[in-house]
Amino acid sequence: MRLRLDKYLADMGIGTRAEVKKLISKGMVQVNGETVKRPEIKLNTETDVVCCHGRTVGYEEYEYYMLNKPAGIISASEDRKEKTVVDLISSRKRKDLFPVGRLDRDTEGLLLITNDGELAHRLLSPKKHVDKVYYAKVEGKVTEEDIRHFAEGIDIGEGHLTLPADLKILESGEISRIELTIREGKFHQVKRMFHAVGKEVLYLKRLKMGSLILDETLTPGEYRALTKSELDKIC
Ligand code: URA
Repeated sequence: MRLRLDKYLADMGIGTRAEVKKLISKGMVQVNGETVKRPEIKLNTETDVVCCHGRTVGYEEYEYYMLNKPAGIISASEDRKEKTVVDLISSRKRKDLFPVGRLDRDTEGLLLITNDGELAHRLLSPKKHVDKVYYAKVEGKVTEEDIRHFAEGIDIGEGHLTLPADLKILESGEISRIELTIREGKFHQVKRMFHAVGKEVLYLKRLKMGSLILDETLTPGEYRALTKSELDKIC
């Protein structure tokens, strides 16, 4: 990809466009070993080597992170008052990262954070029916009848039934433990589905989204870059 030098450095989080222009004019930036003082020169992001303050700055067009979202953090890119899921990605280079879909503030688990809008569209498009698997603790006894209801579709007030969902009971009791696979991403969908059958979700965690599986070595709040094999499968 060809890109202006000032945009290259700003994209990689070196500073704002104005700040990097100053660095360039002060002679702090080298391209292929030569000090460059014109911010508008065009670079080849694959072959040119850019150094700033004596450090090589590689270019990344896209970044992909798997976050184990902790409870209490909002699924947004930025917020004037609160810390967001993107703020948790402390080693990010790019400023244009966003979460692919939303988890409620109190939901934990798998969240993909990227700046790849096309991938996000493919994963979130209502036409694509990408499977999302959740683990939940539910107040009340989850029954075989609930399994049938969820498979047939539930009225959660959307004017039509939810798509067939696979409910697996891990433990049924006063507090039940379940795994649920849904193929849509309606607002509060899992909570609304259980509410519609007279039960309340006490704890919710996303385990899978399409081919992407939460890395259980990540504790809530931790993240890592996607591996090449995860990326190849997800696209
Ligand atoms: N369904 C919910 O109710 N909440 C979430 O965060 C995700 C799915």
